Amino acid sequence: MSSLAIDNIGLLVTNDPSLGEGPLGIVRDAALVFDDERVGAVERTGPAADRRFDAGGRCVIPGFVDSHTHLVFAGDRAEEFAARMAGRPYEASGIATTVEATRAASDGELRDTAAARRAEGLRAGITHVEVKSGYGLDVAGERRLCEIAAELTDDVTFLGAHAVPPEYEGRADDYVELVCGEMLEACAPGARWIDVFCERGAFDADQSRAVLEAGRAAGLGLRVHGNQLGPGPGVRLAVELGAASVDHCTYLEQADIEGLAGGETVATFLPATDFSTRQPYPDARRAIDAGARVALATNTNPGSSNTTSMGLCIALAVRDMGMTVEEALRAATLGGAAALRREDIGRLVPGARADAAVLDAASYIDFVYRPGVPLVGAVFVAGAEVTRDQRLIPPG
Ligand code: NIG
Repeated sequence: MSSLAIDNIGLLVTNDPSLGEGPLGIVRDAALVFDDERVGAVERTGPAADRRFDAGGRCVIPGFVDSHTHLVFAGDRAEEFAARMAGRPYEASGIATTVEATRAASDGELRDTAAARRAEGLRAGITHVEVKSGYGLDVAGERRLCEIAAELTDDVTFLGAHAVPPEYEGRADDYVELVCGEMLEACAPGARWIDVFCERGAFDADQSRAVLEAGRAAGLGLRVHGNQLGPGPGVRLAVELGAASVDHCTYLEQADIEGLAGGETVATFLPATDFSTRQPYPDARRAIDAGARVALATNTNPGSSNTTSMGLCIALAVRDMGMTVEEALRAATLGGAAALRREDIGRLVPGARADAAVLDAASYIDFVYRPGVPLVGAVFVAGAEVTRDQRLIPPG
């Protein structure tokens, strides 16, 4: 076994209140000892270890857990975005543009562009991602996206029910049958989760229920895109079926909030999406005060949120959603882990995976105080330093 000490940490966020101050479990003048790929100990500065990384008094946080991304796609929709900034509304129908480009792309192109997006997020402190399919929308295409996603993460989500593809126009129920049958059979072996876009213009409550129940019968965990473009049944369906997470939650009614507060489903907010689509921001304060568990994620995709910046999400959540900086940081780390039902990431406690970001800052507050500034100095995944000064370190 080999040990590495991240030493001379000015402010360490553990996310475990039993290890330090407040809900973030903050330890000052700390050292973090990794034993191979796991956290071995949280100590005072100067511990014994085989190797030492000097944090120089900076802040160290658990790596971000990005529980909602669509990293595998081809093409871009910059013009659609520009038109939206000029006043056009966001429409789910834009997904078809990306489906066309993705279907036309080679495996190599999809693999390379997805890996580049993953590297970009890593440099910005994202140490774990969930990745969805959803831009193939036929059996071979969805299987191909799940396979490429599996090269990036063990949290792969099958999202065949992202939109009704053009060849099924006017026959949404037939498409749902395909998703629940042959497509699910092809994709389930390579996925951990199933997801559905439950929204006007995508899939209604009955269709969404059919998809989720079929996924559950195939052994997949449940996730839902809900309440993004208006009030709707998504949140209530997710809670009723015990989904791990319902994502977007931009339009929450009182019954939705009560459901989230009383259920086991995490409400995952995607504020970079509301920024990029000019939607209102969700009222996270109300959901948290009612007792809902919350996460923040980037929703990296070419249509509604073309960013890998969790720092931006934190800044927006604090600036526009009523969250404190501490709540936002926790939601982007431990919250993301809860949305993926994982105990091994999102916290820096003995036994957890050694995923951490050393900030070029004395405090995590700088994500909000210095918005848009690259603040991540070095990133560790499973105990190995993978980036330093925003540069990738080649493996080996
Ligand atoms: O999560 N809402 C559905 N899916 C994506 C958007 C996809 C797109 O516009 O290409 C989202 O925002």
